[in-house]
This record gives sequence, C-alpha cells and structure tokens, in this order.
Amino acid sequence: MNLKGRSFLTLKDFTPEEIMYMVDLAADLKAKKKQGITGNSLKGKNIALIFEKPSTRTRCSFTIGCIDEGGHAEYLGREDIQLGHKESVEDTARVLGRMFDGIEFRGFSQDTVEKLAKYSGVPVWNGLTDEYHPTQILADFLTLKEQFGKLAGLKLVFVGDGRNNMANSLMIGAAKMGLDFVILAPKSLWPTAGLVDTCKEYAQESGGGITITDDLAAVAGADAIYTDVWCSMGEEDKAAERIALLSPYQVNAELMAKTGKEGTIFLHCLPAVKGKEVTEEIFEKYADVVFDEAENRMHTIKAVMVATLGNQ
Ligand code: CP
Ligand code: NVA
Repeated sequence: MNLKGRSFLTLKDFTPEEIMYMVDLAADLKAKKKQGITGNSLKGKNIALIFEKPSTRTRCSFTIGCIDEGGHAEYLGREDIQLGHKESVEDTARVLGRMFDGIEFRGFSQDTVEKLAKYSGVPVWNGLTDEYHPTQILADFLTLKEQFGKLAGLKLVFVGDGRNNMANSLMIGAAKMGLDFVILAPKSLWPTAGLVDTCKEYAQESGGGITITDDLAAVAGADAIYTDVWCSMGEEDKAAERIALLSPYQVNAELMAKTGKEGTIFLHCLPAVKGKEVTEEIFEKYADVVFDEAENRMHTIKAVMVATLGNQ
C-alpha cells in the first residue's frame, strides 16, 4: 500500500483497504512502542501544527508521534500566525510548504484545510474542522478492533449531535468499513441528506448499513454506543438550546440497558462533559476502553504521518 505524498482531509478520499492499512499500521506501531521500539521514519522531517482551536489529544499525538519517529514538530497557535487574517490561507500555505514536509491543521473551516493542501504542495492532515474529524475515526476503529477483533458487521450507534464533525466522520468511516451504523438524534440535529446519501452508497458497496433515527429503541443490539459533546468548539452559545434538545439522548444506565446486550462498550472522543452527554456512572464504568481510545489517537496519528510522509 503506498499512501506517500497523500493528504488526509476526509475519509471520503480513502478506500476501505487504505483505511484498514492505516489502522493495522497503527496497531503495529503501538505494539512496537510497548516494547520500547520507536522508528526513524520521519527523520529529517519538519511538520507544522496549526491550531485555531484548542486541543489536548490531537496536539500531543502529532507531537509525540512525530518525535517518536525522529521528526520535529512546530506548534503554530491562533495567536502565533496570521493565517486567514493578515495573510491569505493560500500565501501561508505556500510559505509553510517551502519550509515544512507536512502540515496538520485544526480549525473551523474545511475549506481552509483543503486550501492548505492545494497550495502547500506537502501532505496536510485534518486535525478537526467544523465538518470532519477523520484522525479520530482511525483511533475509534483501532479501539473497536482491539475489543471485537473486527470492524465489519459491528453495530455502532452514535447518540447526540448527529450533524457534528464526529457524527459526519464516523458515518463516512463506518459506511466504508461495513459497519451497521446508526445516528440517534433529534430530527433538527440530523446530518445533511447529501452526506447520508453518499454514505448509503458506500455502505451498499461494503455491506454495511446507515440508519438515521430519533427512536431510542435503535440502540438494541449495539456493540458500541458512542457520544460526543452537545456543543462543539465554537458553538458554546447554543448550550441552552442543545440541553433542551438532547437531554432525552443522554448516555445513561437506562439507555445502555436498552441495548439488551451484555458486552456493549461505550466510546467517547473526549473531552467529555459528564452529567450532560454521558453520566459520570457510565463514563467511569467504561473508562478503561475510553482511555484506550484516547491513547490510540497517538498510534493512529503516527500511522497517518508514517504512511503519508515516512521514509519507510
Ligand atoms: N478527541 C480530540 O480531538 O481531543 P482534543 O480536542 O483534545 O484534541
Ligand atoms: N465535536 C467536538 C469534537 C471534539 C474532539 C468539537 O468539535 O468540539
């Protein structure tokens, strides 16, 4: 599998085989790191980390993943550079492309990360936009594989803000990898019809399924229940409205019981607002797997960099 020189902007751009390749590469890098073995794949490479929004996991994953493989990571926060304010995205991209070998971007607009890729000429990795969060999905898939030994055929239910970056990206990834994927959300927070149609086409090819519903009974038989914050970064002013809409969709003991299954796991991309999208009780019950998922951000992000930019 050769992904050298490719950008990682949305999972739409990757085949199921390419997605599985990155998940499996991450598992291999993880096993090696546990034995104290790190690589040199990014030796001599410099990467820029542009963050318009805050981050714990994604920032640390790119930094540590890069350093583990012998590269250098440079953090460029919102106050550090002029991106899109005093300098156009196109010009900043052309400058960074002359100096860096790869660029991570976290921010608001998907258009910005696409422009960075177009004008920099180096691999660009999407560390979250309003629309998508593709690196998170690789960590979620690695975690599901560790738990269940497979992806295809698993029933994954995303509960909450069904039109945010996590819901969108999980739907794309799940559709490509043959999962039975459900978005459980109030109608006003459903994903766009256009994206649902695209994902239904992917699911037809993979043998997966896509269901969008507001009926809590849809959690029946779920292998994993996934949730995310009710107000994504930049939407903090919507808190009152979202609490009113989403309180019936809180992941609590009652909702977990509706799966009718013993082995269902709970996943969360984090950070979590306990008492809102998930109760403290459920969060703590599944904390081991949730923090495996958080750790897996690092192994999977490392895999994306090694696959697209690495020497071996
Ligand atoms: N899950 C995730 O992207 O976490 P951070 O916002 O801490 O990067
Ligand atoms: N939907 C969340 C994800 C955080 C990782 C946000 O965009 O804030």
